[in-house]
Parts: sequence; C-alpha cells; structure tokens
Amino acid sequence: MKLWGGRFAKETDTLTDHFNSSISFDARLYKQDILGSIAHVSMLAKQNIIPADDSKLIEKGLLDLLTDIEKGMITFNEKMEDIHMNIEALLIQRIGDVAKKMHTGRSRNDQVALDVRMYVRDEVDDLKALLLNLMTALVAISKEHTSTIMPGYTHLQRAQPITFSHHLLAYFEMFKRDYSRLNFTYDMTNSLPLGSGALATTTYPLDRDFVAEALHFNSVCENSLDGVSDRDFCLDLLHTISVLMMHLSRFSEEIILWSSHEFRFVELDDAYSTGSSIMPQKKNPDIAELVRGKTGRVYGNLMSLLTTMKGLPLAYNKDMQEDKERIFDSIDTIKMCLPIFTEMIKTMKIRKENMYKAAAGGFTNATDAADYLVKKGLAFRDAHEVIGKLVLHCVTENTSLEELSLDVYQAIHPIFDQDIYEAISLATCVNERKVKGGPSTQAILAHLEKAKAFLAHSK
Ligand code: ARG
Repeated sequence: MKLWGGRFAKETDTLTDHFNSSISFDARLYKQDILGSIAHVSMLAKQNIIPADDSKLIEKGLLDLLTDIEKGMITFNEKMEDIHMNIEALLIQRIGDVAKKMHTGRSRNDQVALDVRMYVRDEVDDLKALLLNLMTALVAISKEHTSTIMPGYTHLQRAQPITFSHHLLAYFEMFKRDYSRLNFTYDMTNSLPLGSGALATTTYPLDRDFVAEALHFNSVCENSLDGVSDRDFCLDLLHTISVLMMHLSRFSEEIILWSSHEFRFVELDDAYSTGSSIMPQKKNPDIAELVRGKTGRVYGNLMSLLTTMKGLPLAYNKDMQEDKERIFDSIDTIKMCLPIFTEMIKTMKIRKENMYKAAAGGFTNATDAADYLVKKGLAFRDAHEVIGKLVLHCVTENTSLEELSLDVYQAIHPIFDQDIYEAISLATCVNERKVKGGPSTQAILAHLEKAKAFLAHSK
C-alpha cells in the first residue's frame, strides 16, 4: 500500500504510477534527503516531539541505508513514487514502526524544497571549482602570450592589432562574472524551507533555526507559502549556467574559426579532436562544436522551467516536479563541458607566426597611421581621410601601409616623415596602448596580476 493509501479505496493504475513517479530521476537526491531527515528527527527529539531513543534509531537506520545505497545495494520502487517515499518505505521495512515517526511535522512539499536546495548548493560548489580550473588555465596560457600579436576584430573584419593574452583575458573577465553569479545563486539557495510544512507550517513546536544551523543554511524561509513554492533559486542556477554556456559557446566558435585552414591560429591536440569517416585529411574541432551545440539545451532548460512556473498559484503544485530534470540536465551538461574545454585549450598549439601575419596583412595599423598625422598637427577627421586614400591605394596595388615608400606617403601629404614606419609597426601599435584594460604587454601584465590575485583569493 502507498504511504498515503489510507484515504483510497483502490490501488492506483500502473499508468498513474508511471506517470506520477519521479524516482527515475530524483533518486539522485538520496543523500540530501537522508541528511535532511536526520537533522529533522534530531530536532523533533530536542523539542520533545518524539522520544530521543526513537530519533537515535531513525538516525542510525538512515545512515545504514545511506551506506547501502552508496554500495549500490538498493533498488528503488516506482510504485513508491519518489525518493522521499522510497526512503521512508525502506526505513520502515528495515527498522519497523518507529520509522513512521520520521515524517512528523513535515510534508514532502517542504522536504523536496529542502533536498533540491541542498543539492544545488553542493553542485554550485563543484561548478565554482571547475570554473576556477578553467580560469587558472587561461591565466597560464595568457602568461606565455603577453607579446604575441594577433589581429583584433570587429564585424569579423581585422580591426586593430592586440595581443593573444588580451583576447584570452576577455574571457577571464566573463568567467569572473559567471563566478559571481554562482555565488549569487548559492546565496539565493541558502535559506531553509523545512518547517513550511505542506503550505502553512505546523502546530508542532518546531525549531527551524536549529535545523538551519545543522544543515548550514544561513537563514530560514520567512513565509511558508513561499518556502514550498519558491523555485527562483533553480532559475538563478539555470540562468547562471546559460550565461556560462553562452561564454563557452562564443569561445568555442572562435576556436573553431581559429583552427580552420583559413585562420590557422591554433592547432587542437590530437587527443581533443576527431577525424572524418570518409575524408582522410580531416581533423575536426568536435568538442568545441558540441559545447556550442549543447548551449541550446541549456537555454531550453531555463525557458522550460520559467514556463512551468509562470501560471502556478500558491503554493505547491505537482508541476514543480518538472524542475528536477531541467536542473539536472543543465548541471550534467556544464559539468561535462567545463573540464574538457579546459583540457582542450590547455593542450592546443598557438601558431604565433600565423597570428602575426594576419595582423600584418589587414591594415590593422590604419588607425595608428591616422593618429600619427594627428600628433603632427592634423585634425583627426582630415587624417582619417588621408589614410583612407592611402589604404585605397594599397588595396589597388595589393600592398600594405608598411611597404609603401616615403615618396608615396609624401605625395599624399608632405607632413609624412621617416618616423611613420616606426609609428605604424605592429609592436608600436600594440605597446603604445598602455591604457588600463588595453592590449599592450604592460597593460596585460597589470591585468594578469589582478587575475592571479582573484584566483588566489577564490581558492
Ligand atoms: N516528487 C515530488 C516533487 O518532486 C515531491 C513533492 C510531492 N508533493 C506532493 N504533494 N505530491 O515535487
């Protein structure tokens, strides 16, 4: 019989059992469920709601069950619907009637809210560690490339020369924000819903603060209706993972471009690329493509749960059982993506020469040529026009600004002098950009110091 079978005259249909049950996916909450129950019963005993001896028996029974689940000795039962009732039923089987006191002053509604919050906190901790590994790898690569010149792009057209570290550290900043969003998510999750009951708390004299402390929550949910029906923290998590995946996806897109024969800025390690079953020459960036592709399902999970929540009246509704697969899928996806992405970038070869060649070929120094004229006294708009004409000349003659003779320069404007060549060399263009946040070696070294301090502080 079902744990709630008393009011029913007949058994549920197997279709109902199958449709209603969540054990196939919420089984992974077993540990949180058991730890939550242990805290709950020890509080019940402290408050003299159940005898201390009973609480001891229940706690021991739960710990034994936890060990056996972790040893793989337990099979859960779909007829028992979810992880909460499976564990309770198993405990009754094992230690008898005393286990029936465990659910005093509690509902599955506040129980599931508790389990999911505890689970999300654990996962956020894991994600923070994985993200820090990636950020550490980025800093290590950046240290090697503080004077590796590459083209910076706008509209995917070569724009101005930058350093490879400058490009990589842009991602460092994105990941730093992702890290803050993970912390925010943790804070939003870190409130105890237990004690909210089904919706309206209970008449037993529960000590919610005691349970909060035992389970390391820094507050208790202030309103019981909100306590059982709030899934904002799940949405915060799904949003945080979505933005993080968006960053990984943009990075992936660049790696895919950079490893194409047209760019050849990087070469992926054989261990992190794949071949084609028909074209013998192929070496494909499948990992980067899959990370980019999986971003779609992660966005889908966010939209899905937002949509599930949008019409729900207070308080608990069974619709909310749909939260779990969405957050599990996003967590599993990002936990697969982060480590492999980290290894992929750690092992890729950087083709400095090709980056330099690309920066040299595409008039990325045209702005600096205009700035040269400004320093000699021209107004910027006039300088822009002069250099525009020179670029047009170079395009027709299939040459570059650095290859033009001084005669050609002076024919367009007499103010040009020998020092133009130094002024438009790529090294000058990059290293004169010493402004905070810029690409020069000097600015990058300063940024790297901050990045290292961030990592040291966050570990
Ligand atoms: N399996 C349920 C869920 O995930 C647990 C709460 C069930 N509560 C209820 N009143 N049916 O939401």
